[in-house]
Amino acid sequence: MLEKRRYGAGLPTYPFLAACLTAAVCLFLWRLSSCPVPQATRLVAPSYLLLLPGNASSLPPPYPMHKLGPGDRTTLIDVKDFAFQLNNFPCNGSSSLLLLVLVHSAPGNVEKRRTIRETWGRGPHRVLFLLGAVESPAMQAALEEENRVHRDLVQGRFLDSYRNMTYKHVMALKWTAYYCPGARYLLKTDDDVFVNSPALLDFLAQDLSPWGARRLILCEPFSFAYVKRSYRSKWRVSPLEYPGRMYPAYCAGWAVLYSPDVVFLLYREAQRTKYFWIDDVHVTGTLAARANLTQTSLGSLVLSREQVQFLVGPRDNGSEIGSFLFGSPNLSLSDIHRLWQLVQERRPAS
Ligand SMILES: *[C@@H]1O[C@H](CO)[C@@H](O)[C@H](O)[C@H]1NC(C)=O
Ligand SMILES: *[C@@H]1O[C@H](CO)[C@@H](O)[C@H](O)[C@H]1NC(C)=O
Ligand SMILES: *[C@@H]1O[C@H](CO)[C@@H](O)[C@H](O)[C@H]1NC(C)=O
Ligand SMILES: *[C@@H]1O[C@H](CO)[C@@H](O)[C@H](O)[C@H]1NC(C)=O
Ligand SMILES: *[C@@H]1O[C@H](CO)[C@@H](O)[C@H](O)[C@H]1NC(C)=O
Ligand SMILES: *[C@@H]1O[C@H](CO)[C@@H](O)[C@H](O)[C@H]1NC(C)=O
Repeated sequence: MLEKRRYGAGLPTYPFLAACLTAAVCLFLWRLSSCPVPQATRLVAPSYLLLLPGNASSLPPPYPMHKLGPGDRTTLIDVKDFAFQLNNFPCNGSSSLLLLVLVHSAPGNVEKRRTIRETWGRGPHRVLFLLGAVESPAMQAALEEENRVHRDLVQGRFLDSYRNMTYKHVMALKWTAYYCPGARYLLKTDDDVFVNSPALLDFLAQDLSPWGARRLILCEPFSFAYVKRSYRSKWRVSPLEYPGRMYPAYCAGWAVLYSPDVVFLLYREAQRTKYFWIDDVHVTGTLAARANLTQTSLGSLVLSREQVQFLVGPRDNGSEIGSFLFGSPNLSLSDIHRLWQLVQERRPAS
């Protein structure tokens, strides 16, 4: 089996061999029957650390910017003349911010951005929308006008297109490292997601730590995903683009929470790793593995599509809604408005 060969290459120690055999046997049994799904996140015990006021300052700073190359500022992976065409600095002047949210948005998604500003974007967290360059001068003028009013667009010098999404994700890491190093947590999300921001802020301050964390990648992880080779797949990847048969464990890209040290480690790794266009696989999988980081599962903090449809649908019975953090992707504008109304009406008192 592929996994066995991969994990078995150049075995250094017997405990390692034992762990490999266990994993291989478990994988084998799981395929045959109902052994619990082996989650990569469970194989490596506590993968993140929470900070207390006492030990935040005794740790190495999360952003050792001097470790980046001299041309780093104007480089984005293989783009050597990178610059921000639109930029904002909402973090300047405050040394601590609990949550920074960077939202992948497409230039044309004006209504989605408006909806987020009117709903979950409000609050003590900061929300910025990430865009690539556009070819139409009229579109650029509209974006500049939108930014003049709202001051919340960040646009990078790469063409905004589907296969350029990895530039956008790495730009999120870059922007955070250069312009918002005081943020305790970074959430990378998309413009068709519902973020229960009041519950998320409580979760960060109470269930995690208001002083921040280290080595944290909190998301919905996927393990043992095969690389799609079929020409009919939207996600088809050629062996030249990605030679392996399977991806490393990676996160669903629509809601990923990073701690600052992870932002830096992934960013530095991205700057010296060959471009691969599936951004969640590349950043939260390949780069995370290279930086020796593991993903932690959000588990039941995510509402499934069915749960969202129940809540926004006609059969909703008014029962209290739990403290979920994210609603599944591809939501309509009215779904997002409705969910925002619901979480405000029915938030369990804290
Ligand atoms: C900070 O201190 C707490 C309690 O002593 C400990 O559990 C935690 O691992 C420490 N964090 C780091 C990053 O050292
Ligand atoms: C904010 O800080 C960054 C560097 O940290 C600087 O480049 C930028 O000019 C500042 N912007 C404002 C408006 O203060
Ligand atoms: C982005 O995508 C377009 C086509 O979709 C391509 O022509 C361009 O070179 C890509 N890269 C950058 C950095 O813009
Ligand atoms: C990877 O991280 C773990 C702890 O998360 C550590 O024990 C191990 O030594 C690290 N390995 C490398 C190669 O850095
Ligand atoms: C409302 O519907 C949910 C989901 O079907 C169910 O779990 C809950 O018990 C219902 N509550 C009431 C008061 O009927
Ligand atoms: C997203 O939702 C729209 C309708 O709201 C639907 O047409 C489309 O197929 C959905 N896309 C995915 C990937 O689910």
